[in-house]
This record gives sequence, structure tokens and C-alpha cells, in this order.
Amino acid sequence: MTPADLDKKYLWHPFTQMQDWCAPGAEPIVIVEGQGAILRDDQGREYVDGNSSIWTNLHGHRHPKMDAALRAQLDKIAHSSFLGLTNEVAPLLAKMLVELMQADDKNYRVFLSDDGSTAIEAGLKMILQARDQRGETHRKNFVSLSQGYHGDTIGAMSLGHSKFFHRPFSSVLFPTREVPAPACYRCPHNRAKPERGADARTTRKCNWECLNDLRTVLDQQPETTAAFVLEPLVQGAAGMLMHPSGYLKQAAAMCAERGIWLMLDEVMTGFGRTGAMFACEREQVQPDVIALAKSLTGGYLPLAATIATGEIFDAFLGDYSEFKTFFHGHSYSGNPLGCAAAIASLELLADEKVQQTIVHRANRLREKTQLFWTHPNVGDVRQEGLICAIELVADFATRKPFPMEDRLGARICEAARKYGLLTRPIGNVLVLMPPYCITEPQLDQAVDALWRALGEVLPIPNI
Ligand SMILES: Cc1ncc(COP(=O)(O)O)c(C=O)c1O
Repeated sequence: MTPADLDKKYLWHPFTQMQDWCAPGAEPIVIVEGQGAILRDDQGREYVDGNSSIWTNLHGHRHPKMDAALRAQLDKIAHSSFLGLTNEVAPLLAKMLVELMQADDKNYRVFLSDDGSTAIEAGLKMILQARDQRGETHRKNFVSLSQGYHGDTIGAMSLGHSKFFHRPFSSVLFPTREVPAPACYRCPHNRAKPERGADARTTRKCNWECLNDLRTVLDQQPETTAAFVLEPLVQGAAGMLMHPSGYLKQAAAMCAERGIWLMLDEVMTGFGRTGAMFACEREQVQPDVIALAKSLTGGYLPLAATIATGEIFDAFLGDYSEFKTFFHGHSYSGNPLGCAAAIASLELLADEKVQQTIVHRANRLREKTQLFWTHPNVGDVRQEGLICAIELVADFATRKPFPMEDRLGARICEAARKYGLLTRPIGNVLVLMPPYCITEPQLDQAVDALWRALGEVLPIPNI
């Protein structure tokens, strides 16, 4: 049996309708190799890795420095317990991460786990336990953004507000209060008409009703709210919803005034993706807790970090008999291979040349994707750093979406494969989010592939 046959017989894939996957005639792409921004399958076909292997890869596949760092660590040890022991690499990584937080007086501490969901779960538990141990037992509630996605564990799902994903689990999710996402393109308060060529954030006509809504929700229960949790600047799985500049800063100030902690989920936005090391830097916001994962290891290995202020950390200090320990952990916490990969990735990110490349590629991506505005079914083209989202609509003037059952985004991305691009849509939103190492010709190829695929699935009518 081929790997594809074995896969269809034995595996169960995430976020995948397995009936379609296993259908006779369905041929999964079997990736066997990668080099830089290129993925190669078992038939020898090459594709641009258009979504950085689900938003994880930064420096490309088989980067010599990343590979060497992993091999060197492998020659020493792959894994040992982080419970009651430490290792050579995790402390160094923690120091690097805290230095990146750019806040001397916050005395940040790093808690290591495995992936985005565990980083969020650890953050929620840290906040609840800290509130409890500080005698703030009334502060038990969380506020989060509508359509937020923070992962698939029970706590992370409780923060998310996706009716689609979470309906079967509603009986076990704990209640959190939802505030509207500040996403201008579909904001009910935005009175501006859609304009071709203009990101809705730049043409919006509103009075920051989204912030008023947040204020109202916070003021309903200011004394019982533990934290406000959000993906800053870009809400990924919601459809790359992008927030107007100024929202985060004002939201952070509102929380601080009310003694409500700010927990940022930078699982997707972290490590240069939006053009700054962290999206919160763009508005000089210092969170109380930040969750990092995905590209922490440059897309090589699962590793996550939940970073909390000294104020939160101190709530866990006490005599053993007080049982204030953070009773939470994972078998692979502090995994040395993951930490070695993360250190190598951060060293690469510190290189000025890499930072300049991110800026150049982001500019090129912006230039090239302007073409999409000429398609009648493109409602919005929005971009932050190296995240570009193209939202398809059935009607431009009313922003009416295509029905989800049409699988339009998926069909376009499937068509793009034959032009040498692999990427995954979010419903009707096409996403281009390449590794930073992508060359200009590869970037052009990715945009051209998506454009051709769009024209194939939704031909532009001859008027
Ligand atoms: C913003 C955000 N938070 C959390 C997660 C969950 O991360 P993971 O899939 O690694 O559990 C994701 C995954 O897409 C994410 O985009």
C-alpha cells in the first residue's frame, strides 16, 4: 500500500471531512520533502508553501541553521523531564523571550508547554489560580472577542465563540462574555460603503462603537472579571479579521483602569508575522499574559510558551504546605529539541537581513495582490505584515457572502494546486501567508497561482 492508501485507511485528519478525504478517487497530496518555501510531494510536484504549513514556518524548510541546531541538540539529548529538573536550553530560551517582551519592570516568567491550545489553557488556569490566591476569588469571569479562536481544548473553546465548531460541546464549555470583534469590513457600525482598493479600516465611518461595547461589557461586571482575552490586531481562524489601529491600546487602557488583566493570544501573530516581533508592540501594549506557539520553533517542532507578569507569578509563591504551586504541566514541557529550535529561530529573527526581507516581501505581496480588487467577487483585500486575506463576496455593494456550502474558498485553493500553490482558506477568505524566506519569484508565483485559480472557479464575466 502507498502512504496515501495507508492514510486513507488508518488516519483521521484535523478539520477534515473524512468522507471526502477517503472517497474513491480522492488523492491526498503526500509531502515528502521541503526546501525553503517549497514543498515537494511524492510525485515530484513542487508547491509554494502559501500558508507556512498552517502558520508555523518562518525561515523555510530545512534551513541550515535550524537543522544544525537540532542536530547538535540531538547529539546531546532529545528529552528529559522538566518536573523537578531543568536543561541547558530552556533557561536560555526563557531569557530570550523575556527580553523580547521589552518591559523591564514586569518581571515576566515563562511557562512552557506544547501547542497553542495548551498555551491558552495554561494562561486561563494561571489567571484563575492567581486571582484565587490573591484573595480575588470574585474575579472568575473572562471576556473575549466574538469569532475568536483560541484552540480546541475545553478552556480555549470556552473563550472562542464559534457556533459552528463548538455546538456539540456547549454543555461542557464554561460561560464567557462576548464582545464584538473590531473588524471594520463587516462591522454593523461601519457606515462607509465598500470601496474598491481600500481596506475597510482606512475608510470606516464609525464612532468606535466596538470600544463602547467593550466598555459596557466590562462595566457590567468590573469586579468579577478576571481577564480580557483576545488575538491582537488579526483574528486568524475567524477569517483573518483585522482590527483598526488604536483598538488594542484603548482596550488595554480600559482593562488596566478596572484591574482586569489583559491576556493576548499571539499564537498566530507572534514572531514578526505582522511586521513587529509581537502584534502588541505595534500599539506599545504590555500584556499581563501572552500565549505563544506555532512559529515559536520556526515551524519545526511543537512548543508553546505562556508568559505572565511577576505580579501573577508572585501569587504562586508560598510555603509548600500552602499548596500555591501551579498544579499544571505536560510531559514534554521544556523539551530540549523544541527549545533548541526556538533559540535558533529567534537568532535568525534577530538578523537585520531577515527583518528587511519581511518588509520587502510584505510590500511585494501588497503590490501584487492589488490585482484582486479588479475581480467583481472580491470584497476586501486586507494585509498586516506577511498575512494577506482576500475575502470573496457574492455581492460587492452589500458584502453578501457566498453560502458556506458552496466551499468556494476550498475549491479555489484546490484549483491553485495545479499552478504550484498550497494554501488553506477560511471559508470564503483566501489566505496568503508565506514563510519569510520566500523569494520574490516564488511570491509572485503564489499570487499568480491564486489569481488564476480564482478566475477558473469564478470567471470574470465579459461585459
Ligand atoms: C490565535 C490562535 N490561538 C490558538 C490556536 C491553537 O493552536 P494549536 O492549533 O497549536 O493548538 C490557534 C490555532 O490556529 C490560533 O490561531
